[in-house]
Amino acid sequence: MRPTPSWLVAEPYIEQTLGVLRSGKEAQIELVERVADPPDGQSPTTTRCLLARKRYLPRQVTAKGTLEALGAQRASAFRHDVEYREGRQFRRSRERRAVERMSTYGKRLLQDRWTGHEHDVLRTLWEREVSVPFPIAYGDDTFDLEFLGDAERAAPQLQAARLDRPGLDEAWHQVVDGLADITAAGWAHGDLSAYNLLWWEERVWFIDFPQAVDLAANPRGLDYLHRDVANIATWFGRRGLDVDAEATFAELLVHL
Ligand SMILES: Nc1ncnc2c1ncn2[C@@H]1O[C@H](COP(=O)(O)OP(=O)(O)OP(=O)(O)O)[C@@H](O)[C@H]1O
Ligand SMILES: [Mg+2]
Repeated sequence: MRPTPSWLVAEPYIEQTLGVLRSGKEAQIELVERVADPPDGQSPTTTRCLLARKRYLPRQVTAKGTLEALGAQRASAFRHDVEYREGRQFRRSRERRAVERMSTYGKRLLQDRWTGHEHDVLRTLWEREVSVPFPIAYGDDTFDLEFLGDAERAAPQLQAARLDRPGLDEAWHQVVDGLADITAAGWAHGDLSAYNLLWWEERVWFIDFPQAVDLAANPRGLDYLHRDVANIATWFGRRGLDVDAEATFAELLVHL
């Protein structure tokens, strides 16, 4: 198993938010710098590191009444959650019923589980040496993870990485290898695209897992896997690679 990156978990620390890296409909990603003092009696090296803080925007609802208002507006998004989560979460029948009915309690349950779910999936994948950023910690509506990039720039999304033909070939093989490992771990990403893959240090990195689907427990799990493969194969196909989505999907099934 990979060793935990000590610089990312050093305590105590002082942190400051350097800025917002990206803000979208679902989440805002902030760049945070952490400086940790050396432990007493040890060599005086201060660790300084950058991390990405994902702040889930629509679910950042705490005031009573606001959730209901938002819930009505965003009912389809919440229902989407239920579909993704079917069979995996909410094994207690009271919770499950609440989520299915979209009661206030049910919406609250979905909101609370979102961040924890992304953290848990990334943790499992990271431990299996899949190319994902190290998940540091999560709170009610934030999730801290290893920042991919350096002091000058953040890792580009694959769609913006301007890879030449050999680079695209390499990226495709890395995507397939990564998908094999993710499938073997029992997950489908659920929203795979060239926006949710980053390219950094000649490697493809998988990110954005809040909707990851449990392949064994979700009756539609394989449909999500198939859709992921079709989406990303189409993207590579449009850039001139001779990729076969169906053959790739069949290869992945071997890893289940
Ligand atoms: N660990 C990271 N290191 C560097 N950049 C990151 C990291 N995590 C996310 N990003 C950047 O932020 C973007 C959005 O992150 P993510 O895909 O996890 O959230 P999202 O739910 O898709 O948010 P949005 O609705 O804004 O697209 C990514 O496409 C990437 O450019
Ligand atoms: Mg995304």
